[in-house]
Amino acid sequence: MADGHQHAAAEAFDAIGAGYETAFAGSAAHHASLDRLLGQLAPGSRVLDVGSGTGRPTAHTLAAAGHDVLGIDVSPVMVELASRRVAGASFRCADIREVPLEEESFDAVCVYFSLLQMSRDEQRTLVHRLAGALRPGGRLVLATVPLDVEGVSTVFMGQEVRVTSFGPEGFRALATGAGLTVVSEDDAVFTPDCPGAVPEPHLYLDCRR
Ligand SMILES: C[S@@+](CC[C@H](N)C(=O)[O-])C[C@H]1O[C@@H](n2cnc3c(N)ncnc32)[C@H](O)[C@@H]1O
Repeated sequence: MADGHQHAAAEAFDAIGAGYETAFAGSAAHHASLDRLLGQLAPGSRVLDVGSGTGRPTAHTLAAAGHDVLGIDVSPVMVELASRRVAGASFRCADIREVPLEEESFDAVCVYFSLLQMSRDEQRTLVHRLAGALRPGGRLVLATVPLDVEGVSTVFMGQEVRVTSFGPEGFRALATGAGLTVVSEDDAVFTPDCPGAVPEPHLYLDCRR
């Protein structure tokens, strides 16, 4: 399983741990995105949270609203934190690229900032598989830092990471190329609550299968 990319993501987020939530969970745009998703879900919907981190705000918000949430994260530390912090959801430690996904088995899938340590081909393949795991009419939320970068080394919250992303056009194409319709999008600028942070662009796409 562990190629260099995957191992690096697990190591980096194991080290970052709860500090990620302190820095990012206050994002108004992230909460607004969750509110939009909640408005689309029938009671008791089955939701997959890809790269679930500490479980807050995503899994926590959805589980508190009565939905059946499965979070998957490659970082054992994140899975441990989420399991303790979000009582009403299930969490599993795995590399999402290797998790078999049953066709049409979820009402919604969330991907908040969890593609950034994958290559572009891996991101395309994964989003395609996630679209297939949605029931027809189901919702996929995709959020990223919309920069046209590939394999760029940077220091993120004290950890050396390699980042790959798409600019806004390329990110929309990631969704439409998987057969999804982009229903709405939100551009935001967010400054994480951590030392040395600078404002960063965030792009949220609300997509429908
Ligand atoms: C930037 S954090 C975002 C966490 C959460 N989605 C949020 O927005 O609060 C990215 C998360 O994705 C996880 N991740 C990265 N690559 C992954 C992979 N291949 N499979 C599963 N999780 C992964 C990381 O461990 C990390 O917890």
